[in-house]
Amino acid sequence: MSDTDPLAALRTRKLAIVGYGNHGRSHALNLRDSGLTNIRIGLREGSASRAKAEAEGFEVGTVAEVAGWADIVSILAADEAHAEIWRDDIAPNRPAGQALIFCHGYSIQYGLVDPSPDADIILAAAKGPGGAVRTEYQNGGGLIGYWAVHRDASGSARDIALAYLEGIGSGRVGIFETTFEEEAVSDLFGEQAVLVGGLVALAKASFCRLTAAGVSPRMAYIDCVHELKYLADLIHDRGIAGMYDAISDTAEFGARLCEHDIASALGPEFDTLLDNIRSGDFAASWNAEHASGAPRMKTWRAADLKEPVEEAGLELRSRLKGGRRDTPS
Ligand SMILES: NC(=O)c1ccc[n+]([C@@H]2O[C@H](COP(=O)([O-])OP(=O)(O)OC[C@H]3O[C@@H](n4cnc5c(N)ncnc54)[C@H](OP(=O)(O)O)[C@@H]3O)[C@@H](O)[C@H]2O)c1
Repeated sequence: MSDTDPLAALRTRKLAIVGYGNHGRSHALNLRDSGLTNIRIGLREGSASRAKAEAEGFEVGTVAEVAGWADIVSILAADEAHAEIWRDDIAPNRPAGQALIFCHGYSIQYGLVDPSPDADIILAAAKGPGGAVRTEYQNGGGLIGYWAVHRDASGSARDIALAYLEGIGSGRVGIFETTFEEEAVSDLFGEQAVLVGGLVALAKASFCRLTAAGVSPRMAYIDCVHELKYLADLIHDRGIAGMYDAISDTAEFGARLCEHDIASALGPEFDTLLDNIRSGDFAASWNAEHASGAPRMKTWRAADLKEPVEEAGLELRSRLKGGRRDTPS
């Protein structure tokens, strides 16, 4: 990597970004704002995102077209589409030696994409939601970046990874090395056990337990769901011990009493989650779900709307918007 230009490895290469969703849009805008000009967006035929990408000043083509043009393709389409995008659009059109960048180790780790030996296979992952990649960048920061090289065919894979992460803003906060396997397993486990699955399970189960015991849905929602944000912010800014330091001693004592028991109860479930992720069973199950038109996802999403916890959240947020209060009797 050049000492003077952290983006040197990308400066002379044509970069295609496939997908203009949360990450695709943010990466494209950040890389351009960081000074890269040779960027095109690849979208499927009839994509609803085409108008947005064009309105934001990008040249847009089909995935096949940009794959035939680019020196580097950053695949930022939904993971479940990677296999077909690779098979139908990128592999038949890509020039020899084209490098591939992923934002998640998933497709390579679980064999959805199996590029030919001439391809650099690079991980350049901004750790967090795609929208935050953009907002943090605009605020002068970035998301923590992780890079890995699965295959270095060109001899430049590491430089490309680091330049890419610099360009999307991760260099402003921290860039660390990993492997595709570690990132895939850790990312899936984190979102299943804690950030999404575990959090939602705890929030819903505790809301149901309190309301079954006669607590009003609004009060239960505030205590089990709504306040999560403030605790998450404290942990984000100060760590777990720092969060304990910032809350009441009553809250800390109660939490420390039950923390161990809850963790013990969850231990076997976490073992199963990790085994399923490591073995590829989870990826196989998601592939099968996607291939059959995602019937379970549709059922779950439809059921959400009827959940008492959703109704309580809607009711609370509508009251908060209006600044309404109960009239004292
Ligand atoms: N490392 C991390 O912490 C982290 C965090 C989040 C995400 N990621 C990764 O970032 C990548 C993108 O995630 P995202 O959150 O940005 O996804 P997203 O917002 O759902 O965007 C998906 C994009 O993929 C496109 N797409 C879907 N199916 C397609 C198909 N069959 N052919 C062509 N394009 C298709 C969509 O096209 P349309 O616009 O036409 O609908 C959309 O532009 C994934 O690999 C994900 O795992 C990594």
